[in-house]
Amino acid sequence: MKVYFDNAATTAMDDRVIEAMLPFMKNHYGNPSSVHSHGREVRSAIEKSRKKVAELLNTTPAEIFFTSGGTEADNTALVCGIETHGIKHAITSPVEHHAVLHTLEVCEQKGHIQLSKLDVNERGELDLDQLEALLKANPNSLISLMHANNEIGNLNDLNKIGSLAREYGAFFHSDTVQTMGHYVHDLKSLPIDALVAGGHKFHGPKGSGFLYVRKDKKIHPFIHGGAQERNMRGGTENVIGIIGIAKALEIAYEDMAGHEAHIKALKKHFVEKLKAEIPGVEFNGMSADLENSLYTVLNVSLPPSEANAGMLLFNLDLEGISASGGSACSSGATVGSHVLRALNHNPERDSVRFSFSRFNNIEEVDYTIGKLKELYAVEV
Ligand SMILES: Cc1ncc(COP(=O)(O)O)c(C=O)c1O
Repeated sequence: MKVYFDNAATTAMDDRVIEAMLPFMKNHYGNPSSVHSHGREVRSAIEKSRKKVAELLNTTPAEIFFTSGGTEADNTALVCGIETHGIKHAITSPVEHHAVLHTLEVCEQKGHIQLSKLDVNERGELDLDQLEALLKANPNSLISLMHANNEIGNLNDLNKIGSLAREYGAFFHSDTVQTMGHYVHDLKSLPIDALVAGGHKFHGPKGSGFLYVRKDKKIHPFIHGGAQERNMRGGTENVIGIIGIAKALEIAYEDMAGHEAHIKALKKHFVEKLKAEIPGVEFNGMSADLENSLYTVLNVSLPPSEANAGMLLFNLDLEGISASGGSACSSGATVGSHVLRALNHNPERDSVRFSFSRFNNIEEVDYTIGKLKELYAVEV
């Protein structure tokens, strides 16, 4: 059996997304900047996609900019938000994705900002009193705090953070890569200035993404060149990526509650069975709390075991199960997870992140638990 439980790293594309993209690979190949009919038909499809994304997020098309993914969207919001708004101080947390952490660290190394990182407790929760104190002491700050953590599934309260940002005049960016397409984002009511998406996390194509920037917090472009994306991102558009991400978001919104219910049931079963079958199992962050964590992610901490030490992912892979040990984007890297380190996780225990999608089923969960049981039966 082959089981794919690494959906926080990337997801399989939905066939309907592929169908929507195909005509733009075959027939509609014009450059959207060309004024002739071949160009105009493609331009019109891009603008329809932008309108669709804007409608789903309850905002305006003028505030949506297509990018090559979440990383580029994060870089644009942070680097250009800081530069455009004369920001000298930024606040983030040690458990952010590297697309945010490394970008802000470079801004600090270049002397553009002073960077503060909020404390996190052993469950990965942030201290919002500390956030407020930092905002009070540093007017015109930038806040970058993710909606859901890609490794441990912790959810931040964007309304609460955004209200503090408004109160103290801060620019609020959130890395929403893991929640886009899985939760409703209502940008009319959400007090946020910038958020981001990567299409491949919700059954769209890799290399597609978008950035939302609130119209009264406009920023300069990150990539200079032609006038594409209303002068906000030079370069011929990734047309098939744009068509694909908009279609994937549309499908995600069509039955978001149904997808959530299906995936939550799998996760609940996974947690309950693991507790019953593997003595000493624990869960990292808030990920086993079904109501207060990203429903697609479960981060499991297994008891020390000689047979599996450092080999757990490999052993699972041998059984056909694909999962991940830390941050998706650096799975395969030998460095440990900066998120688990920030939580003071016991390095003697092996951790594995299982992440689910609507394409998974209960048989895959049972198969995986069975294999984990066999792997841990050796010494138990
Ligand atoms: C929280 C988070 N932010 C950013 C990214 C990067 O997104 P992309 O792969 O679209 O550049 C990822 C990918 O794993 C992620 O999980």
